[in-house]
Amino acid sequence: MDKIVINGAKPLNGTVEISGAKNAALPILMGTILTADNCVIENVPEILDVDLTLEILEKMGAKVRRDHTTVEIDTSDILPCRSPYELVSRMRGSTYLIGAELGRFKKAKVGMTGGCNFGIRPIDQHVKGFKALGAEVATLGGFVEAKAERLVGTEVYFDIVSVGATVNVILASVFAEGTTVLENVAREPHIVDLANFLNACGANIIGAGTDTIKIKGVEKLHGCTYAIIPDMIEAGTFMFAAAAAGGEVKINNVIPKHLDSISAKLSEMGVYVEELDDAIIVKREGDMKSINVKTRPYPGFPTDMQPQMTALLCFAKGDSKVTEAVWENRFRYVEELRKTGANIDIAGDTAIIHGGTELVGAPMRSVDLRAGAAMVIMGLAANGRTEIVDIHTIERGYDNIVKKFRSLGADIRKVSF
Ligand code: UD1
Repeated sequence: MDKIVINGAKPLNGTVEISGAKNAALPILMGTILTADNCVIENVPEILDVDLTLEILEKMGAKVRRDHTTVEIDTSDILPCRSPYELVSRMRGSTYLIGAELGRFKKAKVGMTGGCNFGIRPIDQHVKGFKALGAEVATLGGFVEAKAERLVGTEVYFDIVSVGATVNVILASVFAEGTTVLENVAREPHIVDLANFLNACGANIIGAGTDTIKIKGVEKLHGCTYAIIPDMIEAGTFMFAAAAAGGEVKINNVIPKHLDSISAKLSEMGVYVEELDDAIIVKREGDMKSINVKTRPYPGFPTDMQPQMTALLCFAKGDSKVTEAVWENRFRYVEELRKTGANIDIAGDTAIIHGGTELVGAPMRSVDLRAGAAMVIMGLAANGRTEIVDIHTIERGYDNIVKKFRSLGADIRKVSF
């Protein structure tokens, strides 16, 4: 097993390259099922969730060739209802197999999925969309099964803004007869990226990035070459680490617009943020101010930056509030952060951070992907030695995180034990 060991309180300086977005890569890789052709996907992050996705696709019959960040996938021989339960149950993103299998084969059978545990993760909105398109859907014995004689375009109004439901129903409706109109959809950049990829394969999707998406059914898709957008959450994590530890970091290969809510909060804290065309500079020398933050679907402040924000605010003088409005239980990591002396109270959906106290590195257990990132930020900025175990949760979604922080001058390493 591996752990991350950090000797903290050293400023970060230099330049770091951001990888492709995990939450765009997973739907796009699953989306290749729809093409029945050869796709070349570039800028794919080298993370465990991508390894798992490609393994699942191979087990279903796809031919996969991977050269670092470029993946070539031939899905001509893929078959539905064949994804191994033990693999799909490890990752939430495998839910997208339902939409992709249903879209291409009119039938799907996929194990109930796992991933980060921050409360109940229902799929009622996905099911609502599939049923509206004409599918029968059943959840039995740990599997979701869907089948349809025909998929017919329709209107779907989502009761909750859900990234997963938006992705899944787009995938299922690409070949549906007529026009499908999806309302109250998620507007995240990875939704736009998925639509752009599918359109590059010949789909007819308009409106991605707004709250209404229209999909005109097409007969078939062809293959294409497509590059995934940069990971806004990885970029945000490096921005917060630079602010917490101090120093000056240039974060390359980003789309600054995607980072607006993150940059705005850093500026409010008194941290210097400069936007360039495809890079962001974060510089912090003096004290940081306490602030209040509430998570929201995009373009609001992302829930996937919430734990990192809590860690950062431990280093800002005064009381801050972080309110979680997307997930019902996403503060499990707070108990771990408290081991450093962090003074954080939880009141319902809000963490109250009494910042600016003396913080000392501590042993911590990464309870999920972004929680682990928060612990890395804490370890980089707190005095003394931090050791983080269960780091596979971090490596699910961060590409070479240790190497990247080392290149910024951090005393961080991965140790086997
Ligand atoms: C995706 C991200 C995850 C991120 C989340 C919100 C991936 C692989 N994961 O997860 O990192 O935290 O978006 O930005 O991209 N909900 C329902 N019914 C449904 C679906 C969702 O009630 O059918 C609720 C959820 O319980 C949650 C909220 O809607 O409270 C948002 O969930 P959703 O956007 O679907 O998250 P995921 O797609 O699972």
